[in-house]
Amino acid sequence: MGKKVYIQTYGCQMNVYDSEKLKGILSDKGYSLTEKPENADVIVLNTCCVREHAERRALGRLTQLSHYKVKNPEVKLVMIGCVAQRIGERLFDFAPLLDFILGTSQVFNLPEYLENKTRLANVSFKDSQNIFDDVLPIRKNRYISHVAISRGCNNFCSYCIVPYVRGPERHRNIEDILNEVQCLSKSGCLEVMLVGQNVNSYKDKNYDFPDLLQEVNDKTDIKRIRFMTSHPKDLSLKLIEKMAELPKVCEHLHLPLQSGSSRILEKMNRGYTSEEYLEKIQNAKSKIKNLSLTTDLIVGFPSETQKDFEMTLDMVREIKFDSSFMFRYSIRDGTKAAEFEDDVFEKEKLRRLKELIELQKRISLEKNKGLIGEKVEVLIDGKSRRDKKSWKGKSRNNKTVILKDEKEGSSGKDLLGEIVPVKISDCDSWTLFGEFIK
Ligand code: SAH
Ligand code: SF4
Ligand code: F3S
Repeated sequence: MGKKVYIQTYGCQMNVYDSEKLKGILSDKGYSLTEKPENADVIVLNTCCVREHAERRALGRLTQLSHYKVKNPEVKLVMIGCVAQRIGERLFDFAPLLDFILGTSQVFNLPEYLENKTRLANVSFKDSQNIFDDVLPIRKNRYISHVAISRGCNNFCSYCIVPYVRGPERHRNIEDILNEVQCLSKSGCLEVMLVGQNVNSYKDKNYDFPDLLQEVNDKTDIKRIRFMTSHPKDLSLKLIEKMAELPKVCEHLHLPLQSGSSRILEKMNRGYTSEEYLEKIQNAKSKIKNLSLTTDLIVGFPSETQKDFEMTLDMVREIKFDSSFMFRYSIRDGTKAAEFEDDVFEKEKLRRLKELIELQKRISLEKNKGLIGEKVEVLIDGKSRRDKKSWKGKSRNNKTVILKDEKEGSSGKDLLGEIVPVKISDCDSWTLFGEFIK
């Protein structure tokens, strides 16, 4: 029996993808995977440091996981990902039982370290890392998968740590991407999410991002295509046109606004004004039928006044995002914004966040109510967590849909891994409920 590995993942789609790929690589080398850290010979923690809270959670979990090594000193304890990259070797002082600290460009080298090396930290960005394009990631969800198309980020938004922990932007070969999507499709996957910190700046040979969408649409058997994240400054007319035209590309655009105040956007180094953002959104809405829009928003950025905050509320009211990820500003050492005075009190940040969340919740409900009576196409990928009898899936515009288990409904039929028509009959702010149309 090979050694058992436990991998826990925090953070964004990129970390999820890295962990899935690492699972594929380790399993090719004869390791087996376990969901239980107490049974593992190797414990790996993949970490995020985008906000202080995320980093604290990762460090807390590391302390907990160290106990397994106290019980069994043979266990190898490994920290990978963005916290490993940011703190590097100093993590040995924090967690003396750690064996390996591997930065974001060293993750896939883990098997070598496990075989040959003793205790070590490597956070070099040098792309010596084999990217194992022939290894298929091991995924929890058979039907929906992430595929990385680029790594790193060159944008340096003033609040953001990602360019420091992920390094400069590097794009993957188009052939490798197409190959991975086609392999996934052959193994039963129906939907891919192309991921990168800023997918709109993708470039390989003469292919830009809209060309990549065209190629994935035309040259693979995948049924649905999504992507994340788009940067507003790089969102081109060509992309909007391709989204409207290509049948496999889903009608969902995640376009982080961050703030509705152009003054704050400038301090954030985002490269667009709120008016420019609005113009792009209006254009997208007019060209893409049934487009669903989601965004990221930060409240309490240095010097944000009540008036700036109200501009964010106004934009949210005007655009009516289907949903948003909303955050309190969190200082990240080493970023440009860390030099600004963090002058919005914590209590005020919380108040603004609460007000924003409440507004968004009302709008999400309103948007979902608008879908009642409509027919939507749902990819069924499992059972509802709350009600194990009901099927759960995702609509083309990225909403969770639960199928009501009615006598005339889907109860007797195995719908797993099928794309089925559903009539929406009810909703809350986060979920649609509907009936399978036979
Ligand atoms: N590359 C993506 C995602 C980056 S991280 C993008 O450009 O949108 C995801 C989100 O975390 C960001 O969009 C931002 O809203 C939030 N975020 C990043 N740094 C933050 C910080 N220091 N404080 C609070 N929120 C932050
Ligand atoms: Fe961070 Fe901005 Fe890059 Fe997104 S685009 S990862 S927010 S620096
Ligand atoms: Fe977090 Fe790293 Fe992603 S900091 S958001 S896991 S790139």
